Amino acid sequence: MFKANENYAKLPGSYLFSTIGKKVKEYSNAHPDAKLIRLGIGDVTLPLAPSVIAAMHSAVDEMGKAETFRGYAPDLGYEFLRKAIIDGDYKAWGVDLDIDEIFISDGAKSDSGNIGDIFAADNRIAVCDPVYPVYVDSNAMSGRTGNYDKASEKWSNVTYMPCTAENSFVPELPKERADVIYLCYPNNPTGAVATKEQLQKWVDFALANGSLIIFDAAYEAYITEKDIPHSIYECDGAKKCAIEIRSFSKNAGFTGTRLGFTVVPKALVLDGVSLNSLWARRSGTKFNGAPYIIQRAGEAVYSEAGRRETREMVAYYMNNAKVIREGLKDAGFDVYGGVNAPYIWLKTPGNMTSWEFFDYLLETVNVVGTPGSGFGPSGEGYFRLTAFGSLENSLEALERIKNMKG
Ligand SMILES: Cc1ncc(COP(=O)(O)O)c(C=O)c1O
Repeated sequence: MFKANENYAKLPGSYLFSTIGKKVKEYSNAHPDAKLIRLGIGDVTLPLAPSVIAAMHSAVDEMGKAETFRGYAPDLGYEFLRKAIIDGDYKAWGVDLDIDEIFISDGAKSDSGNIGDIFAADNRIAVCDPVYPVYVDSNAMSGRTGNYDKASEKWSNVTYMPCTAENSFVPELPKERADVIYLCYPNNPTGAVATKEQLQKWVDFALANGSLIIFDAAYEAYITEKDIPHSIYECDGAKKCAIEIRSFSKNAGFTGTRLGFTVVPKALVLDGVSLNSLWARRSGTKFNGAPYIIQRAGEAVYSEAGRRETREMVAYYMNNAKVIREGLKDAGFDVYGGVNAPYIWLKTPGNMTSWEFFDYLLETVNVVGTPGSGFGPSGEGYFRLTAFGSLENSLEALERIKNMKG
């Protein structure tokens, strides 16, 4: 007789953004004239860069001719893209990688959710708190997180590492067991970054304890300050303990187009097993590759024009981030992030809870953000705004919030 995966029944509520979506829909239905400004979900708004579109068009044409038609893509990705990544993303930061250490995928969400396939069931995971929800929920689905306690909003078998203003949103090394450590810098949701010294401490910890680091660098392109590491492999020894996940979503606007990649170095041998071989085995079995047309589009991101155009897109969003950050500061809010990341993380005013502030903003000024508590218990009392809207909307939202405060 069929039995469903009982771990799903343990998952609390619905996915954060579905809850937000429902609330916003209800509000819009009740107030059809309200002009909502959505600075909640981390989705880009600018169109794809011209070089990316040109590459897609020409790849579409290739697919229409017998001589150039392509069927299944290699499941680990086309070499032209893997090579462009190695040269464009890693050589520049002094990191040497082999082509078979790069695994092309349809995005960082899939990779960060699927990577757990290669962990033992009894590995204990450690996550930053607040955290991008996919890391925890995907481990919960595989039964790795124990039971969920509604009161504390925590799973019994997860090590939570609080990230607050006091530690500049970079956690202390865990005192409990941590077999798999998820780190994300530049961080979603806090917008914080880790310095090389801070990251090196994590690498040293992982090497000393036989732990695996999953480093999510989806926002790497948003780093503006010098000396902030762009890859964990800039740290000594990281190839022996870390997997890095990247995305084309935020650096090049591929949220709807779908492309990402994961780096699993061949030196990463834990418990006597090559994780590169395991991930290759897993990908070969469960994945048939990202589409050719999209991989050609990804390759175009690394062309001279592609780089210039995508850098301009990132700069546009980062200008929004600056406008929002500085404006909120002037209005008396405690504001973090927004310097090396497209997220602004603010303290809710007047001791409001995160959801109280969400409702308040939605109802009084029609601005949609994301409640910090949705990312974990330490996010309570914080709120996330994104810089992915238009400049006009960012300015307008800011004006409304300022007036609300006054
Ligand atoms: C930290 C982090 N990782 C991964 C993703 C998902 O990226 P992708 O669009 O490549 O699936 C997001 C998206 O918001 C994210 O914030």
